[in-house]
Amino acid sequence: MTLLLVACTARNNGLTQKNQHAHQQLPPLPGDISLLLTLEMQAISKSMMELVPAIATADWQKISDIGSQIKQSYIMQHQLTAQQRQTLQRILPTDFKKIDFQFHQTAGKLALAAKQRNRELVNFYFYKLNEACSQCHSQYALIKFPGFIEPESPFEHTPHH
Ligand code: HEC
Repeated sequence: MTLLLVACTARNNGLTQKNQHAHQQLPPLPGDISLLLTLEMQAISKSMMELVPAIATADWQKISDIGSQIKQSYIMQHQLTAQQRQTLQRILPTDFKKIDFQFHQTAGKLALAAKQRNRELVNFYFYKLNEACSQCHSQYALIKFPGFIEPESPFEHTPHH
């Protein structure tokens, strides 16, 4: 499983380097960090799906718990060794860090809005979270998610799996 992910990342990085001019891309991440990122992504995906029925049924406690959980899943803060953290700080593009930071801040705001039982704000922050997923992926995970490639973009002819 780990090997597969590493191989996948290596292949993606080969492609991304060619396309660097049109879009900012993530620099190659060491395999262990890449795996942590994948695990975080899978965890937040699951949380997002759990939010839908929680919001629909006004389960404020659950929404607030999930929001806090997403906020804390920030990989820059947890699970990383000091050395991995330094590596990430050095190699991650500033804009990526900004989107990631804001994403986790929004999750915190969602948790707060749920505590206040503010239905409208809860829906607003849920939208903002979704928006952040596509914003970051369309910039930094274009090879993995080619659906973000715009029709007129030069990526159109990039072969992908
Ligand atoms: C700050 C950037 C950023 C944000 C925000 C972000 N992602 Fe990601 N996501 C990535 C990157 C980078 C990858 C890895 C792409 C690759 O492997 O080439 C990824 C990969 C994934 C994957 C694939 C994981 C796998 O099994 O390989 C899923 C699913 C995913 N993200 C879901 C989400 C969801 C849902 C959200 C929002 C709730 C989100 N992401 C927000 C950057 C982000």
